[in-house]
Amino acid sequence: MACDDLGGEPDVLRRIDPHHTTASQMTKYIGVLTAGGDSPGLNAAIRGVAKAGQSRYGMEVIGFRDGFRGLVESRSVRLEGELLSGILTIGGTILGTSRDKPHRMLVGGKTSDMTDAIVENYASNHLDALVCLGGGGTQKNALRLMHKGLNVITLPKTIDNDVAMTDTTFGFDTALGIATDAIDRLHSTAHSHHRIIVVEIMGHRAGWLALGAGIAGGADVILIPELPYNVESLAEAIRKRLKSGKKFSIVAVAEGAIPRDLAARLAAAEATRAAAESKTEKKEAKAVLAELESEPSDHTLQLSRQLEELTGLESRVTILGYLQRGGIPSAADRLLATRLGTACADLIEAERYGVMVAARGEGAEAVPLEKVAGKKKLIPPDHPWLDSARSVGTSFGD
Ligand code: F6P
Repeated sequence: MACDDLGGEPDVLRRIDPHHTTASQMTKYIGVLTAGGDSPGLNAAIRGVAKAGQSRYGMEVIGFRDGFRGLVESRSVRLEGELLSGILTIGGTILGTSRDKPHRMLVGGKTSDMTDAIVENYASNHLDALVCLGGGGTQKNALRLMHKGLNVITLPKTIDNDVAMTDTTFGFDTALGIATDAIDRLHSTAHSHHRIIVVEIMGHRAGWLALGAGIAGGADVILIPELPYNVESLAEAIRKRLKSGKKFSIVAVAEGAIPRDLAARLAAAEATRAAAESKTEKKEAKAVLAELESEPSDHTLQLSRQLEELTGLESRVTILGYLQRGGIPSAADRLLATRLGTACADLIEAERYGVMVAARGEGAEAVPLEKVAGKKKLIPPDHPWLDSARSVGTSFGD
């Protein structure tokens, strides 16, 4: 059953000795699924869970296709032998993924709660545990299933690095490398043409990717959601560079970065929603908020136009988009995914459920899902990366 005795500090998994477990010796049946946006390192994690589960504990591992939908439709594949071979270095997920939520799934043109179907198929597949590999949304969905009585365990994956209670997520390092490489390449063309290049970097509502790649690639301006910007301040930073003879600038902008006035309107809308009492008030407040939240979608293009007007320089936009999620996982992501995947098998053997296998230092920790679900890890204002970037003259337009 879902573990609810996990209060206090999470356990350090390195202390679990797989050869001295007191857990049941019966063959365990483990379901594995990947949900949410794909991310480099997913296959390494699937391989880690399955290989460790089989070789150390004799577990049977079943993969479900396309996220939670595969479990609803009982579309599965036995994860063994050849299927686990040669996947360590492959991007994406061999299982397929989707953004389907168990409690709100489009089935036959209608949105339905499919949680009961999942509970039934968990039982009909004789599962002892379900491993969900995913980001923030997946942690929430896993918690819902835990509340329905399933033995759930999760791994933190996303290129955004925004999952709470883990040092990092697999996928982030690869995407960071891709975005940094892109900034490196944009430098020479921006320099040659004396242009501003505004490069949009993924990350959803968090700025980890833009900040990391911006620092590593030496961007002159970095815009992140955590620090709403003032376009005048960043134009001033670019004009200063011009005066000192630097006729080009690289602006690394997170897809979720927002100008200050929008940040203020969003905060006001959030407050209205929190104070709403009646159903109608709540619905209206939610709609206002949703509209405001959709505003940043074309902000990068607007920003580029504004910078042209304010600096007199030509400006071009590059949106890195899905390039950041594709391709071969980095060595660091393969290591992390393998470390967390194998630790996950140890936890299942020890029947420690209702937890996320978090990265902590060189090891892994079991963190209760309640502490993770519904939380986002944003860049704190005192994060050392911010300080380092400012120290080398990077502007945040704040
Ligand atoms: O969460 C990963 C991510 O790539 C975000 O950076 C981005 O905002 C989002 O997924 C895009 O989602 P989708 O694949 O549904 O378009």
